Amino acid sequence: MSLRQFISSRKFLRSIVHLKENVSLRWKEFAELFGLHEDVFEDPRHIKLKEPVTVILLGSGNRGSIYADYAIKNPDEMKVVAVADININRLNKIKKIHKIDDAHCYSNWEDIFKSSKFADAIIIATPDHLHTQPCLAALDAGYDVLLEKPIAPTEEECRLIFRKARACESIVGVCHVLRYSPYFRGLKEVLDAGLIGNVISIQHMEPIEQIHMSHSYVRGKWKNSKIATPILLAKSSHDTDIIRWLVNSPAKDVHCFGNLKWFTNINAPEGSTERCTDGCKVEQSCPYSALQIYLRDKKRLYVFDMPDKKSEWDSFILEKLKTTDYGRCVYKMDNDQPDHLTVNMLFESGVTAAFSMEAHVSYEGRRTRIMGSKGDIVGNMESFIMTDFKTRKQTSWELKTDAHGGGDHRLIRDWIQAVAQKDKTLLSSSIDVSIESHLMAFAAEKSRLDRTIEEVRLTDIQLSVK
Ligand SMILES: NC(=O)c1ccc[n+]([C@@H]2O[C@H](COP(=O)([O-])OP(=O)(O)OC[C@H]3O[C@@H](n4cnc5c(N)ncnc54)[C@H](O)[C@@H]3O)[C@@H](O)[C@H]2O)c1
Repeated sequence: MSLRQFISSRKFLRSIVHLKENVSLRWKEFAELFGLHEDVFEDPRHIKLKEPVTVILLGSGNRGSIYADYAIKNPDEMKVVAVADININRLNKIKKIHKIDDAHCYSNWEDIFKSSKFADAIIIATPDHLHTQPCLAALDAGYDVLLEKPIAPTEEECRLIFRKARACESIVGVCHVLRYSPYFRGLKEVLDAGLIGNVISIQHMEPIEQIHMSHSYVRGKWKNSKIATPILLAKSSHDTDIIRWLVNSPAKDVHCFGNLKWFTNINAPEGSTERCTDGCKVEQSCPYSALQIYLRDKKRLYVFDMPDKKSEWDSFILEKLKTTDYGRCVYKMDNDQPDHLTVNMLFESGVTAAFSMEAHVSYEGRRTRIMGSKGDIVGNMESFIMTDFKTRKQTSWELKTDAHGGGDHRLIRDWIQAVAQKDKTLLSSSIDVSIESHLMAFAAEKSRLDRTIEEVRLTDIQLSVK
């Protein structure tokens, strides 16, 4: 064995861990040490495709364009052959990037289904209230589907889509991108390998960060639960999904407290106006000043379809702040989404989980604590520390030192393989598993509104525990 081989060997790593109290490792080293998969994203069932999977994009906004971008980076695997969007700027942008024929650019999703099937699959990235009808139409027409979360705004519609997908045996992937983040993949590996024994309980926090909250859930597209979907679905179904995935047991009961405490009329400061651009007396001191966020800091501008010329930006942004919800006072909106909530969950295995979603925080990045029979884990999306109860040794994995991000495209890669091979088991996030996270979120929202403990009704859904 060469010196180099010895240094990267498990024996050597074990000796370091033995010598030092706390060891921080890259994932490859961590995996080597504990006999886990070195590449948590590698799937030996993936094949080289003979030709790219052809895809129709419904909705070419923020999410749709990210998914379509996979085709540019991986032309051998995916080709976008048609697009539908009511926004002509976005439609034209995608048309140009993907060199789509005029005949295959549509100004409404419904127009796609006036022709018989002309591609392998459809990506549905339209707003929440436009998921059910396009998805049912796509399944009727024989397409495989990648559906943005939430599956649908109501429990009945989610169940309908689920049943239809089952009946026609199409591939339906749901975009729970957290399952494709290196952090949660790593945690899943560690738990499945039993490194902390049996999971006993989980504490999980989703810090939304206050500007993100104001942008999306006070001023933005998801500000009203009746027009979009309850925040438990819109934001936290990622978390119910991840918790369920880590626990590896069906959900039984949930209970939720939560309300909208701060972004309400009663908290509007004296001197505040309807819009930040109306000469608001407290604009300079307000942490939610739209002039500060969008005009001075130039943050979160993707919602505005910015002009190409940067010299036109300031007047363009100002106009948007005077005419769209993004310039309105956060205390004078028609919003109803809770800005803090807690959900308690009980799983069939007896495991419990406590989840909290917090808007009033200065940071993002989920926080996780997992309590096991032989050890525990504390993590924050960038690293986790695992402690062994017997030896008191701590081993940590630092994500910062590994390749970062890329969950969206990893999800697309698995979905493309599933479609090409007609095998939904290639997907971590198929509707068969993701339906449960939605049912948990609906039950939690019902509990919040009715002040009850709710059973998660899985009766007509035969779950594949994964
Ligand atoms: N997986 C995630 O982490 C994640 C993150 C953000 C958003 N989402 C979800 O993705 C979906 C899209 O969100 P987004 O942020 O991209 O929104 P977006 O507004 O940027 O994009 C939606 C697009 O749909 C288009 N559209 C509206 N009506 C249409 C119609 N009748 N026919 C065709 N196109 C139409 C809009 O013009 C827009 O371009 C939503 O359901 C959202 O909840 C998921």
